[in-house]
Amino acid sequence: MNHLLEILRNNRDLPDDDFKIIIEEEQYEEELFSIADSVRRQHYGVDVYIRGLIEFTNYCKNNCLYCGIRRDNQHVKRYRLDKNEILACCKQGYELGFRTFVLQGGEDNYFTDEMISEIITEIKSLYSDCAVTLSIGERTKETYKAWFDAGADRYLLRHETANEEHYKKIHPECLRLKNRKKCLWDLKEIGYQVGSGFMVGSPFQTIDCLIEDIRFLQELQPDMIGIGPFLSHKQTPFHSFPNGDFHKCLRLIAILRLIFPYSLIPATTALGTINTQGREMGLKAGANIVMPNLSPVKFRKQYELYDNKICTNEEAAECKSCLEKRVQSAGYRIVTDVGHVRR
Ligand code: SAM
Ligand code: FES
Repeated sequence: MNHLLEILRNNRDLPDDDFKIIIEEEQYEEELFSIADSVRRQHYGVDVYIRGLIEFTNYCKNNCLYCGIRRDNQHVKRYRLDKNEILACCKQGYELGFRTFVLQGGEDNYFTDEMISEIITEIKSLYSDCAVTLSIGERTKETYKAWFDAGADRYLLRHETANEEHYKKIHPECLRLKNRKKCLWDLKEIGYQVGSGFMVGSPFQTIDCLIEDIRFLQELQPDMIGIGPFLSHKQTPFHSFPNGDFHKCLRLIAILRLIFPYSLIPATTALGTINTQGREMGLKAGANIVMPNLSPVKFRKQYELYDNKICTNEEAAECKSCLEKRVQSAGYRIVTDVGHVRR
């Protein structure tokens, strides 16, 4: 075994310069993926957990420079799902074997704290064996606490980049890395299972930014880590920047699996968009989660974070069975399970 990879597997860490080598260089890739896969199998066998993604609003008050649903994109037709529409997605999902529902959206103040609490309470009372994951951006600690008390189990909030300068280059002035990090610490303190992560290849990202991302995750010790390639969107200020590097993203998935053997790492939609076999390859590199879409098909195209986003035409059942086949072809199996972290 390559000695760097052996050290990484045994110590779950490497010095910065060694991380840089295995992130940048393709020559170690095959062995890296195979070691990451064996570590994943030690912790999760061949199980892949599914999360039912409900993209319930594409309104957003933020203006992140990379994001297709940013406030200033006038070309997006905005939509919101009401409580009953969200519950209908959950019902369909439950019947298909989903035991986690992920409520994701832009930062949309139309939904008050109370409205979100009510939605959480209702989902949990109807499906007490399911987990509710929220992914609706930065809020106060009090709000996070209220949603936790209402029954929310998990929260996804990618830190996006752990480098202060880089953060400023890809976000508007009013958004601060410091606050993003504070939100993550608040969520942890409250008791949520927390997910963070970053885009690979976002404009102005350097190898040092990626090292800072790894170091920040080591501090935070999240349960879930979502990474995917940056993909450009034609109606954003970053429309002419190149997409992130697919293979570098796979290498980072494998590295994260070795640093955090127990973590829940999705093979993301962005990975499936940049390469038709992207999610299968992500699983083989150490990912153990897929997130089929449960949102109503009529709104799917309107939640276009980047150009050519996949899975915008299939009904939930089709989306799940397509993923089931893909997961199987990669050598794993989708299970009906709430899919908590196995620390
Ligand atoms: N508003 C919530 C938040 O800020 O966490 C959740 C929705 S946001 C659209 C979900 C994630 O999409 C972001 O954390 C970001 O990493 C990812 N994303 C947005 N634009 C993207 C792009 N152009 N390419 C790849 N990923 C993107
Ligand atoms: Fe708000 Fe992307 S800018 S979700």
